[in-house]
Amino acid sequence: MLINNDTIIKDPDPVLRQKSLPVPLPLSEEDRALLRDLYTYVKESTDEEKAKEKNLRPAVGISAIQVGVPKQLTAIVVNTLDKNQQPVCYEYMLANPRIISSSLQKAYLEDGEGCLSVVEEHPGHVIRSARVTVKGYDALTDQMVQIRARGYLAIVFQHELDHFTGTLFYDRIDPKDPEKTIEGALVI
Ligand code: CO
Repeated sequence: MLINNDTIIKDPDPVLRQKSLPVPLPLSEEDRALLRDLYTYVKESTDEEKAKEKNLRPAVGISAIQVGVPKQLTAIVVNTLDKNQQPVCYEYMLANPRIISSSLQKAYLEDGEGCLSVVEEHPGHVIRSARVTVKGYDALTDQMVQIRARGYLAIVFQHELDHFTGTLFYDRIDPKDPEKTIEGALVI
């Protein structure tokens, strides 16, 4: 499937509000191919040359509904620092991921979130959990995985999994107080 900034579905297309369904395992060739295409998009999107050549907007994740497929498939590529401040790349091609536990501690990005499907600016804090545990099938390593994500990676997981329920990041911004701060929250 050709995925670029022209083919990605944009808000307010109602498709983005559809619920995505789990896919059967083992993965069909079709679902695996779509996951691969989603992953390739994200991977190439942060390569300046590739992004320019293929019309890709930089991203750390994309879910299948954003290309019009209501299936619980998502690809995530996050380059960040680990606990010891060493550069690390977390990358996944997930089928049927779900959050099995979330911390009470909250977290948000100081500069707010963005989304490949949302062109309009929606400034404000998107309050999420600081840590989540995600369980699902990772087609990149071909195994069931349980991922403990914290901080930025945890936020990316929550953003992508929200797409499965038709939720967009700005739905979680308090309209009365967009820059709301939460005591004890992790500010990234
Ligand atoms: Co998004």
